[in-house]
Amino acid sequence: MDTEKLGQSRIMNCLARAGGATMESRLRHWLFDPNRTLRGAGIRAGQTVLEVGCGTGFFTLPAAGMLGENGHLIAMDPLSDFVDRVRAKVQEAGLNNVEIMRRDALKTGLEATSVDLVLLFGVVPFPTLPLNRLLPEMHRVLKADGTLAVWLFPAPAGVPTAIVRSGLFAELGKSNGVYTYRRSDIGGSNRTNFSIN
Ligand SMILES: C[S@@+](CC[C@H](N)C(=O)[O-])C[C@H]1O[C@@H](n2cnc3c(N)ncnc32)[C@H](O)[C@@H]1O
Repeated sequence: MDTEKLGQSRIMNCLARAGGATMESRLRHWLFDPNRTLRGAGIRAGQTVLEVGCGTGFFTLPAAGMLGENGHLIAMDPLSDFVDRVRAKVQEAGLNNVEIMRRDALKTGLEATSVDLVLLFGVVPFPTLPLNRLLPEMHRVLKADGTLAVWLFPAPAGVPTAIVRSGLFAELGKSNGVYTYRRSDIGGSNRTNFSIN
């Protein structure tokens, strides 16, 4: 499946528009504080952060605010509707530390070891983001001391275990509902044959 082509299809973008209304609903904002979740990921000013599957930007704007003008946020999503929406919000907010990419996170095209923190917020498990392809790519782009932060909704127990079983990441802990992992070199970034249940 070509996720980037799919991201331009009219049907996918119509469906996304419906889903997007939930993603940025008032109820979600009322029930849920994105800043708290971002703090759980350990985000710090000045970092380079990759946000996988930014959707309508629920986490994008708060993350950009926390990174400050010396930070760099790469917000990535294959759906053109979402990317256009987030671009408009970022422009409206006058933020110049956000780079928005319409791209499949399985093939980010980013330089190796260039990212301090990867946010997988509300994106795993997802059919177009299989962990056995996503984790090696995240391992490749993260710096040696980089962090992978995962917030799961709904929270299937298998995902945190599968991440550790990949051998690519070692668990650091859990804070504000966010699991964090440090990049590990034991498995090697070419390891794709681990099983995910
Ligand atoms: C459930 S939404 C979550 C959006 C956002 N993170 C949030 O919590 O509001 C999942 C997002 O992942 C994106 N996505 C799906 N497959 C992807 C891929 N291969 N690469 C990057 N993003 C992807 C979808 O387009 C969608 O925006």
